[in-house]
Amino acid sequence: MAIRYLENSKTLILETAHTTYQMKISKYDYLLHTYYGEKLSDEDLSYLIQPKDRGFSPNPYEAEYDRTFSLDVFPQEFSSDGCGDFRKPSIEIKNGDGSTAFLGKVKKHHIRSGKYSLPGLPALFATDNDTVDTLEITLQDEATKVIVVLLYSVFEEKDIITRAVKVINQSDQTIYLNRIMSTTLDFMESDYDFIHFAGRHTMERNLIRTPLRYGVQSIESSRGASSHQHNPFVILCRPETDEDHGDCYGFSFVYSGNFRCEIEKDQFDQTRLLFGINPRGFSYQLKTGECFDAPETVLTYSNQGFAKLTHQYHDIYRNNLCRSHFSHLERPIVINSWEAAYFDFDDEKLLHIAKEAVDMGVEMFVLDDGWFGKRDSDFSGLGDWETNTSKIKRGLPDFAKEINKLGLKFGLWVEPEMVSEDSNLYRTHPEWCMKIKGRAPVRGRYQLVLDLSQKAVCDYLINTLNHILDSANIEYIKWDLNRNMTDVWSSVVDFEHQGEIYHRYMLGLYYIFDQVILTHPDILFCGCAGGGGRYDPAMLYYYPQVWCSDNTDAVNRMSIQYGTSFVYPINTLESHVSICPNHQTGRTTPFDTRGTVAMDGILGYELDSTKLTAEEKYLCREQIASYKKYYDLIAYGDYYRLTDPVKSKKYMAWQHVSKDQKTALVSIVITNKESNEPQKYVRIKGLLPNQFYSIKGQDGVYSGRALMKAGIPLPDLGEYESVQYYITAVS
Ligand code: GLA
Repeated sequence: MAIRYLENSKTLILETAHTTYQMKISKYDYLLHTYYGEKLSDEDLSYLIQPKDRGFSPNPYEAEYDRTFSLDVFPQEFSSDGCGDFRKPSIEIKNGDGSTAFLGKVKKHHIRSGKYSLPGLPALFATDNDTVDTLEITLQDEATKVIVVLLYSVFEEKDIITRAVKVINQSDQTIYLNRIMSTTLDFMESDYDFIHFAGRHTMERNLIRTPLRYGVQSIESSRGASSHQHNPFVILCRPETDEDHGDCYGFSFVYSGNFRCEIEKDQFDQTRLLFGINPRGFSYQLKTGECFDAPETVLTYSNQGFAKLTHQYHDIYRNNLCRSHFSHLERPIVINSWEAAYFDFDDEKLLHIAKEAVDMGVEMFVLDDGWFGKRDSDFSGLGDWETNTSKIKRGLPDFAKEINKLGLKFGLWVEPEMVSEDSNLYRTHPEWCMKIKGRAPVRGRYQLVLDLSQKAVCDYLINTLNHILDSANIEYIKWDLNRNMTDVWSSVVDFEHQGEIYHRYMLGLYYIFDQVILTHPDILFCGCAGGGGRYDPAMLYYYPQVWCSDNTDAVNRMSIQYGTSFVYPINTLESHVSICPNHQTGRTTPFDTRGTVAMDGILGYELDSTKLTAEEKYLCREQIASYKKYYDLIAYGDYYRLTDPVKSKKYMAWQHVSKDQKTALVSIVITNKESNEPQKYVRIKGLLPNQFYSIKGQDGVYSGRALMKAGIPLPDLGEYESVQYYITAVS
């Protein structure tokens, strides 16, 4: 078993191939955290906790005259509130008597094989090839009887530990849960850097690294979506850690709504990390006997820097999170109508684009926004999911047939969670959107958010979407979301339940996904939220791919894809070649380079094919042919970031390496050119040192060691030009 309880030392040990996680049931039955990191033997590590009389750090009543036992100092597995630990709490409750105290003590624990699941929430699953064990620890507050169950699953070979929490109200009064953190992890030191991924619309997931400082540092979303601004993923690492060396810990939160990650450096230079639903706007009523399930966090540790951490996340997310069978299939090459036509099209124009696209070698035509209702701009039409026959004159089923006749598959855009005020849906059901009685709602992109906490709204959307999907030969859906939530209040629940709406919305959304996506397993779903505004692990449980950003500029995209790659597998990231000057930045880059960058993901096109030159169409065919040749390497290989967009002033480079380390694809883009430059060298990663390799199109063979230690000369290319090196082992 990967989980053990050692009776003599009262330690609970979670073990993976290369890591150990240890807890100790202390005297008085408090659950302390003693270690997480490189694999150790079964020794009791609680000697690390040195009891000292610390002024102003109080002691539990049962400690009597012992002033060295303090929950304010000792590392906790799940921290109490109002009972002597002044650091950030794991839980905040309003008890039936109005008190807010919670003090959990271990009542029991249970080890079993298999992975836990969470009702209504996405979570990792075990496949037949995995060894997974689960530990459940029950903590109870002796005074109120409120129970907290800590859940841990260990994916032994994959070096992954998942955590989740349940709160059960076993008191005899109604309580309110105002905060519940899915993961609490205390470190006895604070010599760490905090890495997170901040951004904005069209510029998502830029890596930010700062040393920990005293007090609380945090990231969060309170937008009702995981957001462009902060991704629910953080890393704690040693100051010296880089791509290839050093300790680092990853925390990835499997939830698409409001989240919060807090890291507190305390008075004794210790560190507490908390990750969970954002307490802002959250208050959940639990009557006697009711239970709340908090979402999952996925933890991993690497002692060999970020590259290994990335490989661990990519492997587990590809195999144990993405449920769609498309996760293991080559995706069709898409041409999307958005940047080609925006709202200005009719079916003839689109068919012309599709026809020319056949010549480019694409395989699927995706009809983006504008095909339904009164949708000639983004001021109206959302909610009216009937074909606009003044634009698609032959109707959707026949339009799809025409696309199919060209030899292309057909895909469609929807934005089901929204409504325009100028729509029949809004006129019929104004009470279905998020709006506070007596208050004019805030608009975003001139649209309002449907209240998915209402069962009637979910059922309506399930029927409407299933009807669309079954009405024509649709083989791909781009599911979009183009504003964040405001006016969060529901007309159908009373005062006590208004703090549940953000979370109930997410449960409603996951329920809709179950009823629409899972019932159409042969349709390829692509997630989108103004590009990457909801690129999170929970979404990957439903969609095998996500439109990574509305920014298609190759140079900006390299930074966005760099940050995204730390945790999200390359075969979940949709990336398109568009025209130049680029619509977002006005920059002009060579067609080849746009292909090189888009191949660092799921390659597609986002342009008007009727405007391409014969030369550009030829380049498309070449790009698609190379992409298909390298597909397995890109989709399933190990990913290496060879440069960092902030530090690397001259070029960007990245690499895909097959699991057997015998083939690799290195991509290089020159980002800044000067005259008469010094020679630079690009050091390759992940090869076998004693193996000899050849580089496609070049004479000679090189040892893996030479390619990795000495590198290859950076080719003499112009600004924004690129090159790809295909490296194969010679026998
Ligand atoms: C969002 C998406 C775009 C496009 C538009 C359509 O911004 O990210 O790709 O689909 O909506 O309105």
